[in-house]
Amino acid sequence: MLHYPVINLFCFHFQTYKLHIYFSLQTIFMAFTVCYLLLLPLLGSFFMVAYGNLNQHFDITWGEGRAKIPNNGELLTLSLDKASGSGFESKNEYLFGNIDMQLKLVPGNSAGTVTAYYLKSPGTTWDEIDFEFLGNLSGDPYILHTNVFSQGKGSREQQFYLWFDPTADFHTYSILGILSALCIFSVDGTPIREFKNSESIGVPFPKSQPMRIHSSLWNADDWATRGGLVKTDWTQAPFTASYRNFKADACVWSNGASSCSSNSPSSTTSTWFSQELDSTNQQRLKWVQNNYLIYNYCTDMKRFPQGIPPECNV
Ligand SMILES: *[C@@H]1O[C@H](CO)[C@@H](O)[C@H](O)[C@H]1NC(C)=O
Repeated sequence: MLHYPVINLFCFHFQTYKLHIYFSLQTIFMAFTVCYLLLLPLLGSFFMVAYGNLNQHFDITWGEGRAKIPNNGELLTLSLDKASGSGFESKNEYLFGNIDMQLKLVPGNSAGTVTAYYLKSPGTTWDEIDFEFLGNLSGDPYILHTNVFSQGKGSREQQFYLWFDPTADFHTYSILGILSALCIFSVDGTPIREFKNSESIGVPFPKSQPMRIHSSLWNADDWATRGGLVKTDWTQAPFTASYRNFKADACVWSNGASSCSSNSPSSTTSTWFSQELDSTNQQRLKWVQNNYLIYNYCTDMKRFPQGIPPECNV
């Protein structure tokens, strides 16, 4: 069960996020050495990497023919018209790891449409990590809306503008769960938001409920664009969003067990990683937060008159 590409990818992310290792190793070269020589036998069984064929990894869940997987599974498209939107979900449930998907959003006048792409566990005390793309009139900016639910509690929105036109080409949107420590949203490898584990101050963290990937394209013109002022122009329908290059470098949950080692990865591997982004990625995160963040629940005093949520002070 030891796949070299698995380790390759793992080490790639390792380098991307330049996670510090709790060995006294300083350089990337040494990090790679550690990956290959030391962690290889240990991590080999922790992560499963899934690529490619979208047919293999996703089921279309609604929309009666509005969702398609053409080109032998290389592409997935969702569409929306006046009668219905459409959606899909992953066959697998995931626990930890990094999940990448490339999306190209509804072009032109996409006002009123929402493309949601998220991880969610079932049940009434669910965990959920959301990307939602709120469409706009031609030439006006999309809003990237994010949220984190733990044990059924959300209301942790952060919204961003993007530094590119998300309808002109595919871009990679990733959700990285670093074991039980940290959850990172990133866009083309740039972290835009982190949600840290604040269990020590009583805030549940989405770490133990396996989640499926879900996505849907639907009409939300009662709220999505300029707070609902701009309605969907149905003469532009059908609206289409596209997906490709799915890659899950993650622990898969099946039949009540994780594909990762029988040892709890949270207790075993977390000791090997720093629980923070390195300084380069901290700076990139700050750049996004300074220049593109347009709403942050943590600074919305009006909404939380009794005080902002506790995780905001961490
Ligand atoms: C749409 O464009 C308007 C005007 O530029 C902007 O205020 C708004 O944030 C944009 N995005 C959405 C989803 O409303």
